[in-house]
Amino acid sequence: MVQINLPKNSEIKKGHYYKDKTGSKNIRKVNIYRWDPVTEENPRIDTYEVDMDNCPSKVLDLLNKIKNEIDPSIAYRRSCAHGVCGSCAMNMDGKNGLACTKPHSEIKGDINIYPLPHLKVLKDLIGDLSTLYKQYESVEPWLKTTKKIDNTEHLQTKDDRSKLDGLYECIMCACCSTSCPSYWWNGEKYLGPAVLLQAYRWIIDSRDEDRKERLKKVADELKLYRCHTIMNCTNACPKGLNPAKAIASIKKMLATG
Ligand code: SF4
Ligand code: F3S
Ligand code: FES
Repeated sequence: MVQINLPKNSEIKKGHYYKDKTGSKNIRKVNIYRWDPVTEENPRIDTYEVDMDNCPSKVLDLLNKIKNEIDPSIAYRRSCAHGVCGSCAMNMDGKNGLACTKPHSEIKGDINIYPLPHLKVLKDLIGDLSTLYKQYESVEPWLKTTKKIDNTEHLQTKDDRSKLDGLYECIMCACCSTSCPSYWWNGEKYLGPAVLLQAYRWIIDSRDEDRKERLKKVADELKLYRCHTIMNCTNACPKGLNPAKAIASIKKMLATG
């Protein structure tokens, strides 16, 4: 996994320190990035001493424990708790991932938790994904076909169906795009790995009749060719997908006509 350079704790002012009140002998320190749109203590790192004897195994469990038992003011997204919805994506120990699937035992020393890098922060661990969703909408992620909607199946061969493997599993968590240096610097214009993987998912779908148009739309110096094969995206994907390969496949299709 690629280590992402985030500001060191020493570069952000220290915030509140929450000492353990349980008397537990098994304490870990958890440092959490805080940014609150209504106070002026921004940004800061709050530190929590957490009793690990009574904490389930994942980073999301740890956050829930802190929120339920120590400080209800922390904001973070979560929903499914099973690596399916993508909402709990954040940066843990310098690596992007899903808090609900990341075991805290894999993190040595203090546990540092930040929002996904290079997004505008809305509050604490919640990044603003509105640009990414607009970009997602721009690739029109739905089937375009003139086939009439009736009760018959829209068949694919087994081979055609298998071309969607490694693509349809994407949960749009944004771990890849927010680990890509090209997306950090050109996020308004470069579509980034998450959206390009989605674009490819529809380009390669044998049932879709808009392949040429789809390719034409992404064939752009900024939208596509800002990918410089850095590969952080593939290293960061918590679902084991390969957005770098999807981007290379789009480039190849464009090059070979
Ligand atoms: Fe998340 Fe992986 Fe999809 Fe990127 S490719 S959005 S990291 S699931
Ligand atoms: Fe970025 Fe991945 Fe390309 S990290 S530059 S999208 S290969
Ligand atoms: Fe749904 Fe983590 S809460 S992926």
